[in-house]
Amino acid sequence: MQTSWTHTTVLLNEAVDALFTNPDAPADDPGAGRQTYVDATFGRGGHARLILSRLAPQGRLIAFDKDPDALAAAATLNDPRFFIRHQGFSHLSELPEASVAGVLLDLGISSPQIDNPVRGFSFRHEGPLDMRMDTTRGISLAQWLQTAEIDKIAEVIRDYGEERFAGSIAKAIGARRQERGPISTTTELAQLVADTVKTREPGQNPATRTFQAFRIFINAELEELQQALEASLHVLAPGGRLVVISFHSLEDRIVKQFIAKHSRDEYDRRAPFAAPRVMLLKALQRSKPSAAEVAANPRARSAIMRVAQRTAA
Ligand SMILES: C[S@@+](CC[C@H](N)C(=O)[O-])C[C@H]1O[C@@H](n2cnc3c(N)ncnc32)[C@H](O)[C@@H]1O
Repeated sequence: MQTSWTHTTVLLNEAVDALFTNPDAPADDPGAGRQTYVDATFGRGGHARLILSRLAPQGRLIAFDKDPDALAAAATLNDPRFFIRHQGFSHLSELPEASVAGVLLDLGISSPQIDNPVRGFSFRHEGPLDMRMDTTRGISLAQWLQTAEIDKIAEVIRDYGEERFAGSIAKAIGARRQERGPISTTTELAQLVADTVKTREPGQNPATRTFQAFRIFINAELEELQQALEASLHVLAPGGRLVVISFHSLEDRIVKQFIAKHSRDEYDRRAPFAAPRVMLLKALQRSKPSAAEVAANPRARSAIMRVAQRTAA
């Protein structure tokens, strides 16, 4: 297996600075880097390594990743303060209450996942239509497409790809299934979408939205994100930071609404004189990669980072 696929970490310093309440403090400074942090999306460990470099000897970093290749990469990281779990990041909820000083979620897929044709994430490379982040469980996209209802396929492409031609693409998948058997490769799917989608968005492959939609669906990405955000409220200690980097509007909307919902006092309309529900988060920051970062790493172009702090409530 080729192992040279690399991942260029997006917003490396910005995200790690945001995790630490006092980013300039040296690691042995009391109150800096002595607690437990979570990197919920280890990938190739770009953020994790920088977090570890800021941690004091008594600090801990717990990482998550669904991808067995990410786990293999993590096995090379020899640091007694580092622990990795081969689990979806919604399992964050299993950590003890108020035990964590910072949670980082760098969402989506890593470059090695996109670039390795065997993973089936990219319309640019011929490969099996898999798209699972965790190849040890669940079903591949090709398996799902063998039997899925046309209406369900259309719903997935519409809801997760915001694709205007969702209905036509789903019908074309159904017709192809009946005439020549199920689609089994990335390039077959990309060609079918290109033949079906009539108008092209400038600079974008016509299959972009469909591939995004299927990837989100097969990995239950939005459901797991929602669960992880809820879990972060439970595990973050007062003053702890939540840092989320998202790469498309569906993810960012969930993060934005979650932070907004928990950072305002809420009155119960049925009990207008009762005390408001106290806010659990304080929104701190929304930022994007610099022009220089995007020029050096075009995959950073759609990134948005949001930072919030757990209140003492
Ligand atoms: C953008 S990459 C992270 C890159 C990492 N920050 C770095 O610097 O190398 C996202 C990673 O998160 C993992 N991932 C995505 N969704 C996940 C989930 N729900 N649970 C666990 N891991 C997930 C993917 O497998 C991928 O390795």
